[in-house]
Amino acid sequence: MRKLERSACAKIILCGEHAVVYGRPAIALPLSQLRAHAHIAAHREPFEIFAADLGETLSLTTAPVAPLVRIAQLACEKLGITPPDARLELRSDIPLGANLGSGAAVSIAVARALGAWAGYEFTPDEVSALAYEIEKLHHGTPSGIDNTTIAWEQPVYFVRGRTPELLSGVYVAALPIVIADTGRSTPTHVPVGEVRRAWESAPAHFERIFDAIAVCVHEARLALEVGDLPRLGAALNVNHELLQSLSVSSPELDALCAAARAAGALGAKMSGGGRGGNMLAIARDVAHAQHIAAVLRRAGAARVFHAK
Ligand code: MEV
Repeated sequence: MRKLERSACAKIILCGEHAVVYGRPAIALPLSQLRAHAHIAAHREPFEIFAADLGETLSLTTAPVAPLVRIAQLACEKLGITPPDARLELRSDIPLGANLGSGAAVSIAVARALGAWAGYEFTPDEVSALAYEIEKLHHGTPSGIDNTTIAWEQPVYFVRGRTPELLSGVYVAALPIVIADTGRSTPTHVPVGEVRRAWESAPAHFERIFDAIAVCVHEARLALEVGDLPRLGAALNVNHELLQSLSVSSPELDALCAAARAAGALGAKMSGGGRGGNMLAIARDVAHAQHIAAVLRRAGAARVFHAK
């Protein structure tokens, strides 16, 4: 029986979230060890998707149209094919609602699997554009950083509407980062919508915060280029304070950041949409990262990941 598999990674935002929606830069990293997998196999029935983690089977006629079905339709339109008589099974290691890009990753895995089934490998730009359409369904004004980072599976310096700059170099590749999930999830559109309403009521104030976040991102990029981890950590600490002033952090995120800093982290901040989800900490080296991970578990983190 014909079958094949394609996958897509998770992502983490190093710095610049929220301000990136307003045209400021942000840096995001792929998390290659956490993946969404789409297995596709020939099937006697019309096309269907089995979302194994949810225990749900979706067909093209299931109403309302689920994002998973929509990405399959968009991929088929782009390929110029009708949906094949096949069953696509989706399994993901990426925790849902943890701001690790699970939505964009499943979209990209589905599109890649359908492309491969039709004998075509989508380019990163193509698959990113398809997934962006679904990101818009998930939260009205996405910057596009999640789908871009996941489609390229490389560290990205991202400015909305510009060609993404792929960051390379030993320091970016070997960053000793610890990521901790609070275990609480808030859909990204909630904090993104609240920031928008706050910005609408006091644009000048929020524009100044976004500018200050852009300075942190610039500092972080310079620090990454020369491998200056203390400088990177300091930029991330300031970024966290600015996110607190946007009211997108939470007591759990603040407590995990404080615990990481008390364990000697060079910097710690919430990451992604906020109000739950995850935070990250920069360690001195791999052994220190293990220590911080243990401290974060004791401080109540539901899950702890390493960037490598
Ligand atoms: C979500 O991963 C990052 C946010 O900046 C939203 C976006 O960029 O679309 C909060």
